[in-house]
Amino acid sequence: MVRIFLFIFVLVVASVVSLAGFRGQKFTGTPLQITPDMKHQPKVITQHGSVFFADNRGDHPMIPGTIPVGYNLPGRYSQSGVNNVNAASTFTGEPTYLDTGVIGDFYGDGIPMEVNAKLLQRGRERYEIFCSVCHDRSGSGNGITKAYGLATVVSLLDDRIKGQPDGQIYATITNGKNTMGAYGPSIAIEDRWAIVAYVRALQKSQSVKTDLLSPELKAQLEKK
Ligand code: HEC
Repeated sequence: MVRIFLFIFVLVVASVVSLAGFRGQKFTGTPLQITPDMKHQPKVITQHGSVFFADNRGDHPMIPGTIPVGYNLPGRYSQSGVNNVNAASTFTGEPTYLDTGVIGDFYGDGIPMEVNAKLLQRGRERYEIFCSVCHDRSGSGNGITKAYGLATVVSLLDDRIKGQPDGQIYATITNGKNTMGAYGPSIAIEDRWAIVAYVRALQKSQSVKTDLLSPELKAQLEKK
């Protein structure tokens, strides 16, 4: 009886050891995989080849004319980007003032790019496309949507908005506020700042002294 037991015992130990092996020992043969599960997947691994593509390469260079999602273009701060829509298509969510309008815990003030006629022109165009339906082309808040029931639109010419730092207006465009939706996903960063600059111009335009106007503008005013 004991002999039979010992025989079976030795047999079991020998088969377990031969099947499971000595764990922790290195060997170079192909491992026996009883349940390979997800070890082998038909996927591309970085720096590896792939039989899926005709050239047997896993990695491929970027397709000309495309931009990967979230990629920062070199030179994105450059002024030339403002009028070059392809170069200005930046929507990244980096924690910089340029991206958020916020410095530390506070809204920052100042427009982080050169404010010139080109930028204001771009800002005007973008403002009239994206904002004027609600805020009106003058900024008064009496856009066409008012007639359709959106009654809470704020006048951008209010002293309260005039007193807000540039970064706060930028952040309102980016994230929206209460009933106003977020425009960050649909307006490029440079264009959002261009709109902020144009909103400032609209605010100033309400209280310009007439002697600051050019002779032509003055003549236009006098005609009215
Ligand atoms: C669909 C209508 C709509 C559009 C388009 C829109 N807004 Fe607004 N906006 C609103 C409403 C409504 C409010 C008031 C939100 C609230 O109740 O505080 C508002 C508020 C604001 C405020 C004041 C935020 C504050 O601190 O009280 C600013 C600044 C502003 N909008 C700027 C813009 C700019 C710039 C654009 C264009 C990029 C724009 N909005 C596009 C509807 C709109």
